Amino acid sequence: MKLKELWVICLVVFSVSCSKDEVIEAYVPTPQPLNVPQLFDELILAPVIPFNNPQTEEGVALGKKLFFDTILSADNTQSCASCHAPANAFTDSAQFSVGVDGISGNRNSMPLFNLAFNYDEKFFWDGRVFSIEQQALQPVENPIEMHNTWENVVDALQNDSQYPALFSKAFGTSEIRSELVTRAIAQFERTLISGNSKFDQYLLGNATLTTEELNGFNVFMDETKGDCFHCHGSNNNPLWTDNKFHNNALDATFTDLGLGEVSGDPNDNGKFKTPSLRNLEFTAPYMHDGRFNTLDEVINHYSEGLQNSATVDPLMKKVNEGGVQLSIQEKADLKAFLLTLSDYEFINNSDFQN
Ligand code: HEC
Ligand code: HEC
Repeated sequence: MKLKELWVICLVVFSVSCSKDEVIEAYVPTPQPLNVPQLFDELILAPVIPFNNPQTEEGVALGKKLFFDTILSADNTQSCASCHAPANAFTDSAQFSVGVDGISGNRNSMPLFNLAFNYDEKFFWDGRVFSIEQQALQPVENPIEMHNTWENVVDALQNDSQYPALFSKAFGTSEIRSELVTRAIAQFERTLISGNSKFDQYLLGNATLTTEELNGFNVFMDETKGDCFHCHGSNNNPLWTDNKFHNNALDATFTDLGLGEVSGDPNDNGKFKTPSLRNLEFTAPYMHDGRFNTLDEVINHYSEGLQNSATVDPLMKKVNEGGVQLSIQEKADLKAFLLTLSDYEFINNSDFQN
C-alpha cells in the first residue's frame, strides 16, 4: 500500500470515529460542587460523594426532573415529591404516606436534607439500605409506594421525547439503565443541603436569640434537664442528629421492630434512626409512625411520657420517673429553641422547586 492510500484510509477512519454520536459519547459534563454551608466547613464536615457518581450540572438537572416526574410510578400519578415535598422540607404532612394503589404503610415519610453528610450511609427509619443511590431503587417497585417495575420505568424513559438526550448529556449514553436513573436522583438529593437557620446565623455571630430561645438551648444541652444533645447534636454537630439508631422510649412493646427487623438481633428491637431536628416547623407529624402531631406532644413525651422496655436507650436516664420532668416554662423555652432550627431559605430555594 502506498503512503497516500494509507493516509486516505486514516482520514476515513478518523472522520467515522468523530461522527455526531461519538461526539455525544465523549461529552464531558460540567462539575457542580456542592454548596457546603460555612458552619459545616468550619467543623470540617465534608459531603460523601461516591467516586463513580460525581456531582455535575447535567446530572443534578436530570435528577431533579426525575424526582418531580410521575413517569416513575405505575399509573403516572405519583412522583418522589408526592411524599417528599419542598414546602415540607421534603417530607409530607400525612401520618402514613399513601401509595399509587391507595395503600399506606406504617411509617411516616422522612424529610430529605443533608443526606450527603450521613456518614454511616444507612437510610430509612430502620437503616435497611446503604447509600443514597441504593435507596432510590426502592420506592419505584415498592407496592405501597409507586408500585411500578424498573423494566417499565426504563421503557417509558427510553421512549420519552426528552430523556434519552438528557441521559446522554449527564452520563454520555442515551441507553437508559436503572443505575443511571438512581445516580441522577442521588445527585439531586445531595444538593438538598440545609444550613441556614436562625440558630446557624446565631453561631456565625449574625443573629441574636431571644432569652426564651437561649434558655431553651440550655434545657436542650443540660444533662440534668432536657439532655437531648447526645443523640440530636449541638453547636458542634449542625446536622442535629447522630444518624444512629436508638430506642427513645416510645413503647413498652413493639409492633414495628425497626432496626431489630433488619439486624435480626432482639437487642435492636424498637430502635429507629434519630431524625434531624432541623426544619421541625415543616415536618409534622413526628416519629417513625407519625404518632405526635405537635412539638408540644413530643416534648411531653420526653418530659413525662417515657415507656420502659428491654432495649430502651441508657441515655433515657429518667425512664423510671417517666421522663426528664420539665416545668411549663422549660417546655416553652425548649420549643422556642427548636424552632430556631427552621431554615426558610432551604424550603424556598428556587433550585429545589418543581
Ligand atoms: C408513597 C410515598 C413515598 C414515595 C412516592 C416516595 N417515598 Fe421516599 N419515603 C417514604 C417513606 C414512608 C419513607 C420511610 C420508610 C421507611 O423507613 O421504611 C421514605 C424514606 C425515604 C428516604 C430515606 C431518608 C433517610 O434519611 O433515611 C429517601 C432518601 C427517600 N425516601 C427518597 C425517595 C425517592 C428518591 C423517591 C422517588 C424515587 C421516593 N422517596 C418516593 C415515602 C415515599
Ligand atoms: C437516646 C437518644 C435520644 C435522646 C436523648 C433524645 N432523642 Fe429525640 N429522638 C430520638 C430517636 C431515635 C427519635 C425517633 C424515634 C422513632 O421515631 O421511633 C427521636 C425523635 C425526636 C423528634 C421527632 C422528629 C421527627 O422528625 O419525627 C423530636 C422533635 C425529638 N426527638 C426531640 C428531642 C428532644 C427535645 C430531646 C430532649 C428532651 C430528645 N429528642 C432526646 C433519639 C433521642
